[in-house]
Amino acid sequence: MTLTANERTDNLHSSPTTGEGDWRRGVIYQIYPRSFADGNGDGMGDLQGALSRLPYLSDLGVDAVWVSPWFVSPMADGGYDVSDYCDIHPMFGSLEDAETFIAACHGRNIKVVIDLVANHCSSAHPWFQRALAAEPGSPWRDWFYFRDGRGDNGEVPPTDWVSVFGGRAWTRVTNPDGTPGQWYLHLFDAAQPDLNWNNPAVRSAFDDIFRFWFDRGVDGFRLDAVPAIGKEQDFRDAGCDQSGQFTPETSPQTRYWDAGNVHDIVKLWRTLADTYSPPKYLIGEINVNTPEALLRYIRPGELQSVFAMNLTKAPWSAREFERLITGNLNFANDGQSWPTWVLSSHDEVRTVSRFARLADGTSDLTTGLRRARAAMLITLALPGSACLYQGEELGLPQVEDLPRELLEDPIVARTGNPLKGRDGCRVALPWDTSSPSLGFGMGSPRLPQPASWGAISAAVQEADPDSFLRFTRTVLQVRREHVATQPDTCSWDAMGEDVVAFRRGTIQCIVNFGPAPLPLPADAEVVLSSAPLVDGCLPTDVGVWLTR
Ligand code: GLC
Repeated sequence: MTLTANERTDNLHSSPTTGEGDWRRGVIYQIYPRSFADGNGDGMGDLQGALSRLPYLSDLGVDAVWVSPWFVSPMADGGYDVSDYCDIHPMFGSLEDAETFIAACHGRNIKVVIDLVANHCSSAHPWFQRALAAEPGSPWRDWFYFRDGRGDNGEVPPTDWVSVFGGRAWTRVTNPDGTPGQWYLHLFDAAQPDLNWNNPAVRSAFDDIFRFWFDRGVDGFRLDAVPAIGKEQDFRDAGCDQSGQFTPETSPQTRYWDAGNVHDIVKLWRTLADTYSPPKYLIGEINVNTPEALLRYIRPGELQSVFAMNLTKAPWSAREFERLITGNLNFANDGQSWPTWVLSSHDEVRTVSRFARLADGTSDLTTGLRRARAAMLITLALPGSACLYQGEELGLPQVEDLPRELLEDPIVARTGNPLKGRDGCRVALPWDTSSPSLGFGMGSPRLPQPASWGAISAAVQEADPDSFLRFTRTVLQVRREHVATQPDTCSWDAMGEDVVAFRRGTIQCIVNFGPAPLPLPADAEVVLSSAPLVDGCLPTDVGVWLTR
């Protein structure tokens, strides 16, 4: 069977099944609701808009959507600062709209995963407000980490810990009489106070939140920043550089991340998820500094899967891809779990722009696009699940010239560095050329879309058989029919320093990272390639799926 990127048969999206295998082999599509589709014309994406785009997602052939936080929130961190976990932000719609959305997804055999931000809530949450109003040492304060400061007047923070978003991880509160009070811990922004998961009342409140959404038909949770929950309770200094940002993937510190009783908490969540039939799905965002630390989260009784996030930062290097993939496959096999492969997300520089960076320091988007297509053939052939971030299927680049005054990411303010901001991957999707917002909605999007995005809108790409969108759709279709059905193991083929090549059952994936054309094995049939082959060879930055 040979399918090229511009051919596809009718959508053969399978009917809903409920076993573990669907999660293990399915493709998840991440919706960042503010910038997906705007149904009411206020310039912000919402549930009505998302609902209207479900046919597009069905057509694309995804098995599940993961919706980034849709809860009530002051939006200090794009919704990852929740002030009511059991209601929908009015900007997105109502609880009824959420129920309609879930039912409509199910009607299309698409499962729904939502985000659960458990490490912290918003400083506007009534839990935090009542803690602020309460006395030091009171039960309400014990929902968070309030501590007295050090120094003669308590003016020195309780520890030297720094935040993931930069700056110190403690903020001092003001007492009702105007005097300076205790400090509270926030591993992210000051508007995101960390919850004390040693407090049974916090655990029980979240049990209710899990059940609230599970009972409304949500199929699973993407658990946000799970290792942040684990802190050593002796609150000692960690030797942090006060001018830095805490980077969980590289930092050796072990006092306030991936420590304490975090695994006990994860097990409680899994026990609750398993009380449903079929069991609800839990996938973790686990930023840790070693594969072994990651492995611990997918032991039996913990999470079903974790995102294999290290490819979101990988340079365009065959050996580096192989090294990272090998590590992730090892942990998945050991833990009898599976990785969920990701190349981008709402937190990362979009794949096309990342891979556009050339060795000489310049950038070339055409190269970025070629590489992004080839990379997709790697992640979507590997054993495990995969997650696409909205717009990845269109090959959208990062928007790198947003006006500074529009940047909302708290990392920008906390580090003073606009280059660290994540707004550039959160620009409204271009759907068509029918309106100034490129079909996003009748209002003006919060962040301006580049004028050039009309030419790469979904509708324009739909009409072009060679487009990124049509390629992605074909890849998902071929994956479903011919790749996901292969064994959940793979083995590497040595084809040279600049080549990633592996076999999964009868499918072989080969990607040429090097400058010279790569002759393909003579005994194989091409199933799909990310760009045309030349004289039977794989050109530079091109990938192929073969059957053997
Ligand atoms: C996760 C989210 C990110 C958010 C952070 C704090 O990393 O993906 O967007 O800023 O948690 O909740």
